[in-house]
Amino acid sequence: MINHYEVIDVKQARNKKIIMRVDFNVPMQDGKILDDTRIKRVIPGLKMLADCAKQIFLVTHLGRPRGIPSSEFSVQPLQEYLKGALSRNVSFTPYVDDVTKLSEILEKKEKICLLENCRFYPGEEKNDAELARNFAKVADIYVNDAFSCSHRAHASIQSITKFLPSYAGPVLAKELAALHSALENPGRPVAAFVGGAKISTKLSVLENLITKVDKLLLAGGMANTFLASKKIPVGASLYEPDLIQKANMILSLAKEKKCQIILPIDGVVSTSLKPGGMSYLRVNGTVKDDEMILDIGPESIALFKQHISECKTLLWNGPAGAFEIAPYDEGSKLLGEYIGKRTNSGQLISIAGGGDTVAAVNLAGVAGEISYLSLAGGAFLEWIEGKSLPGVEALRLSD
Ligand code: 3PG
Repeated sequence: MINHYEVIDVKQARNKKIIMRVDFNVPMQDGKILDDTRIKRVIPGLKMLADCAKQIFLVTHLGRPRGIPSSEFSVQPLQEYLKGALSRNVSFTPYVDDVTKLSEILEKKEKICLLENCRFYPGEEKNDAELARNFAKVADIYVNDAFSCSHRAHASIQSITKFLPSYAGPVLAKELAALHSALENPGRPVAAFVGGAKISTKLSVLENLITKVDKLLLAGGMANTFLASKKIPVGASLYEPDLIQKANMILSLAKEKKCQIILPIDGVVSTSLKPGGMSYLRVNGTVKDDEMILDIGPESIALFKQHISECKTLLWNGPAGAFEIAPYDEGSKLLGEYIGKRTNSGQLISIAGGGDTVAAVNLAGVAGEISYLSLAGGAFLEWIEGKSLPGVEALRLSD
């Protein structure tokens, strides 16, 4: 997959008008950016392109306005930020009622122009060809540098590629290369550590992972479902009784595929999720009916570390417990630190991403040590689920 698309470079960008899909869907409050990590990552590539291109039109969504323009979801506050980050003037094009006029308006714009939230246009999420054509009219080439949106078949991600020569942006290309090195062609043994609260969506992720990895380390709500499927009591913990059968199926498939599934052997429990509540350590089999397992325990941490120490590659998705509330952050913190340390000393290639994982990585203070930290949520999960992503597929060169 890795060589089937073209990555934009100076040669192709020179003197071209570029329409570039980015993911500036960042947390904002009252027009203030609360976390700019996603934007920061695109800036070096954007600077490189801005130095040689004729014009760049930046297209992003923010939130889920469902085709209805509103100041709450306007991306205009990003204009000032971009001016500073790029040390250049950046213009802004507000929502255009009549989208057929978009190209006319954009014709007169500055070298770098940020377009209003593309999800203000009802055609965006419908993958509407008319809207895509109107975006495309303004440019010579299209660049997708938004891996985290590439699981969406939307006009600015998929349809637009029908109208312009299309390239992968530098960040998207780096992301795909990292994911490829984790699952398609990894140094072995390779493990996946999957935690977090979402169970139903992640069971299909596990189904794919057991065909690719040598070890699967489970924590959180999903691990509880597997413990319950082995008739180990999980008390009042988060788990999915309806999915026990599926968990059993995954266990036997894992055996067939020679993938070792490692479950926690102890946990930190409490009868309430409130901060400051009493917590206790329980080994498997001793969790009481009214207790919830809220983190993995020290024996499990040691066990997981042992397995990780045997691996050359690790894919990490999801925290080990209810990490937002101390003391249930301990498992995520200690495992994160260990993963960071092994990566730093060159013994492990680690790829982390999806949902709360970035927060767990930051909690452990190892964002700088992980080999590749994906900022994608849903797209990362769909990718490890083995699904093809419409935005990436659309960049594919014909053989
Ligand atoms: C994300 O935050 O995962 C991406 O920006 C995609 O957003 P969406 O889930 O609203 O499509």
